[in-house]
Amino acid sequence: MFDGIASRYDFLNHFLSCYQDVLWRRYCCKYLKKLMADGNAPGNAGCMTGKATAADVAVENADGNVGCAKNVPRIVRLLDLCGGTGDFAHTFRKIFESGCACKCAAKTNPQKGTVQCVSQKGTARGFAVEPAVIGDFSYGMLAEVKPKKIDAHAVQLDAMKMPFAERQFDVILNGFGMRNVPDARGALLESYRVLDAGGYLCVLEFFSPRNLFNKFFYKVLAPLFIPVMGAFFSGKRDAYEYLVNSILRFLPVDDFCKMAEECGFEVNKVKMFDGGISFGVFLHKPVSAS
Ligand SMILES: C[S@@+](CC[C@H](N)C(=O)[O-])C[C@H]1O[C@@H](n2cnc3c(N)ncnc32)[C@H](O)[C@@H]1O
Repeated sequence: MFDGIASRYDFLNHFLSCYQDVLWRRYCCKYLKKLMADGNAPGNAGCMTGKATAADVAVENADGNVGCAKNVPRIVRLLDLCGGTGDFAHTFRKIFESGCACKCAAKTNPQKGTVQCVSQKGTARGFAVEPAVIGDFSYGMLAEVKPKKIDAHAVQLDAMKMPFAERQFDVILNGFGMRNVPDARGALLESYRVLDAGGYLCVLEFFSPRNLFNKFFYKVLAPLFIPVMGAFFSGKRDAYEYLVNSILRFLPVDDFCKMAEECGFEVNKVKMFDGGISFGVFLHKPVSAS
């Protein structure tokens, strides 16, 4: 289904949400940056003294110990899961690398297998994002990543059975994907597995409506105008009927949080956007997780 709407997907996303989706993504990325900058994140093991900033990152010393280095950007390993055309990953890079003067001259030290930053121009004050992995089931959606010239690898995958070893990522984004996978619990468990201890999973999603305003919006207004607009611009009315129905069939946000906790996550924050039209759910894999 997503293959059929891929070329108009971004435009319709922005149009139907009155550009709110752009603001929601931005909020999520800014909040993740704040969380990571607090120092309580993977790779910062040696820097969790309470005073660490993003610039005080963990680096491996010559003797193999992990310590803090000033002015070295934190390297972030990002997975945009159900990433589609890559908009979320693109926003993430822009926000995480703003304020980072070094534009990451990051490279892997093959001898030690560690990641270090070299040849910084000026003072590094932030993060450097490794080329992101944009993982999605739909080739059509992934084909839209390339024209955007995002520094990323597009990987065709199933969110419930990912082709990655454990603890490969520091941050996983999931924009409007959980509702679309056949088994959200399976996708949560897999996300937990591939996330490093201390890492974050950010789920931006339309959850099943709970309050009166949202029920009215999703049960009365949305079925009237979303399929019509979708059909007009993409010629695929059924895809946009599915969008509305999938929201009504999905879990309410509280139940989703409960499920995430059962999968091992801690709920860091639930941010309601536009009266509950969508939510940003920030999940944390405990530092102590094995
Ligand atoms: C609504 S789109 C979201 C795209 C993008 N993340 C965004 O923020 O706009 C949902 C995406 O989930 C993908 N998807 C559905 N089931 C999947 C699965 N089992 N594994 C991976 N991706 C899946 C679809 O192909 C589609 O691109």
